[in-house]
Amino acid sequence: MDERIIATDEQSADDWQYSLRPRRLSEYIGQDKVKQNLSIFVKAAMSRREALDHVLLYGPPGLGKTTLAAIVANELGVNFRQTSGPAIERSGDLAAILTNLQERDVLFIDEIHRLSRQVEEILYSAMEDFSLDIIIGKGPSARSIRLDIAPFTLIGATTKAGALSAPLRDRFGVISRLEYYSVDALTEIITRAAEILRIPIEANGAQEIARRSRGTPRIANRLLKRVRDFAQVEGSDIITDEIADRALLALEVDRAGLDHTDRRMLDAMIKKFRGGPVGLDTIAASISETRETIEDIYEPYLLQLGFIMRTPRGRVVTESGYLHMGVAYPKSDNKPITFDFEDV
Ligand code: ADE
Repeated sequence: MDERIIATDEQSADDWQYSLRPRRLSEYIGQDKVKQNLSIFVKAAMSRREALDHVLLYGPPGLGKTTLAAIVANELGVNFRQTSGPAIERSGDLAAILTNLQERDVLFIDEIHRLSRQVEEILYSAMEDFSLDIIIGKGPSARSIRLDIAPFTLIGATTKAGALSAPLRDRFGVISRLEYYSVDALTEIITRAAEILRIPIEANGAQEIARRSRGTPRIANRLLKRVRDFAQVEGSDIITDEIADRALLALEVDRAGLDHTDRRMLDAMIKKFRGGPVGLDTIAASISETRETIEDIYEPYLLQLGFIMRTPRGRVVTESGYLHMGVAYPKSDNKPITFDFEDV
């Protein structure tokens, strides 16, 4: 299991975060576009007294897809039922969940791209006509019955919108992409969390943690907790930027938020493959990770920072990537600057 301090999977130690989760859209920081749109759709659905249209939320892990789904249910004033793609093993499991929903409830399915084919097919008619086609019995005596279910809202979440089948994707009326958070938004999230948890922190301290949280609230909240431990042991009663810096360096989270493994990947790309282009499988093999881990966890943030680039021939370390690793960029073409006088 991933035990990196910057891991984005929910860990049991994250239970404490439940108290930090915003419950209303007005408390939710960042993702302004998504928030504005959802707020309008929620109001419209409520005024029509209808279930909200199905919503697909996609984006990297840890950005608050579950939180947002729970907020939508709360704003609609309905129940929030939560499950995940891999947890629904058989179509009967899904049928049981769907038949227990009350009118306009929100059903949240995390990792919806991991639903099995059979389960997914049951979902189609449930989403479209609020009905279930169930086959009872086996062989010649098998018969199909149609069950009506209460109109509901499905909120699906996925880190890979591309992995969703087209028929499923087409059944969502609202498709929203969550983006990495800005440093300012993360600073606000950390300040809010520190207040709730009664952790004294200076504005600069919150900003230092924010800068190194990979655009991800889940990581920001976890780092805040670790930095608090350092401050406490050092006998400091408030988190300053210096304490945050020292604590994060001790935790091997560097000034751009990269950890040991990210740096190992960049280092391998630079030293073993001269900065690329190098294929994903080759990178994976060279640092003993799986292709999927690199694609889902390491690469998105390195791309976001502009430290690597995707090209048709493979991944390439950019000039900023070299700079960050403290290695001279070998590919700068020292061409003389020329002027095209027609442009002047
Ligand atoms: N905690 C985690 N994510 C948050 C967000 N987007 N807004 C407020 N608090 C949060």
